[in-house]
Amino acid sequence: AVTEKRPDLLPPGPAAIARAAEVLRAGGLVAFPTETVYGLGGDATSDRAVAAIFAAKGRPSFNPLIVHVPDAATAERYAVVDERATALMEVYWPGPLTLVLPRRAEGGLSLLVSAGLDTVAIRAPDHPVAQALLAACDRPLAAPSANRSGAVSPTAPHHVLESLGDRVDVVLAGGRCPVGLESTVLDLSGPTPALLRPGAVLREEIERLIGPVTVGTDDPEAPKSPGQLASHYAPSAPVRLEAGEAAADEAFLTFGPDRFVRGGAARLNLSTQGDLNEAAANLFHHLRQLDKPGIRAIAVMPIPEQGLGVAINDRLRRAAAPRG
Ligand code: TXA
Ligand code: MG
Repeated sequence: AVTEKRPDLLPPGPAAIARAAEVLRAGGLVAFPTETVYGLGGDATSDRAVAAIFAAKGRPSFNPLIVHVPDAATAERYAVVDERATALMEVYWPGPLTLVLPRRAEGGLSLLVSAGLDTVAIRAPDHPVAQALLAACDRPLAAPSANRSGAVSPTAPHHVLESLGDRVDVVLAGGRCPVGLESTVLDLSGPTPALLRPGAVLREEIERLIGPVTVGTDDPEAPKSPGQLASHYAPSAPVRLEAGEAAADEAFLTFGPDRFVRGGAARLNLSTQGDLNEAAANLFHHLRQLDKPGIRAIAVMPIPEQGLGVAINDRLRRAAAPRG
């Protein structure tokens, strides 16, 4: 039998942070918690580390990664930060907002991070473990969500072990991610800001600071298949949206009061109070819990398309999109 490599699963105290920083500086991979989801981190200045991230995720190399930095001052080394970016960073950094900006060639980032584009996606995570790791390794960290490409993002350390266990050197086990959905991605590389991925920083909040924002897509294959929603963030069972009830062989993901809603072999509620923040934090966790053998499909009750509901519905529509 082949002996499987097991990662070191470490509670994130000072010794664990120091060890993880050492692994990163040597070109290794570390999964770490952020406020949004767990990231699969590698040194963003190292081609070898960035290539290892793409390989571990099974991610197509034309889909660029997000670079994580401690703060706005550090971001300026790698990207051209204009007035719009500065205004947003002052309010939302550190936090769940990624900005796509012109890349500084002299910054030293691996070109693989940007997948050949002359832009870079950059964010400062608002999580003590992520910040401690960035400080200790003193490198920008390329970090996509720590899951196999196309699958549901991890919001707890055991999710990382389930999907990438043998492909990561260290997992910093920092508990559940408080936001639970990936960061908002805003493209500021052109004259008109474009929302590429909705998240916890809302479009209307961004517009209040910098004016009108168009809605784009973060799907690198989108131009080839206009109007098509690529399957992403998907559990193995099919997902059925806008469900009023569930069949006996379906799992049921409910929202709000559900005492009088019928069906479901298994059932989890995103938020009995109908709180969208709570629902976002539970979404990926509950989808994974319900995605069990014997479940024909996961039926999902409607979620209001307002506030964080926009980002929740974006992920749910992609989970329900036809599989490629
Ligand atoms: O919350 C998050 O953003 C998490 C945590 C770990 O920070 N990271 C994350 O990374 O979700 P990832 O790789 O799963 O998603 C990055 C998204 C992708 O949709 C990618 O296409 C887009 O950002 N992106 C990255 N660089 C880009 C660029 N230069 N231009 C346009 N889109 C870009
Ligand atoms: Mg991802």
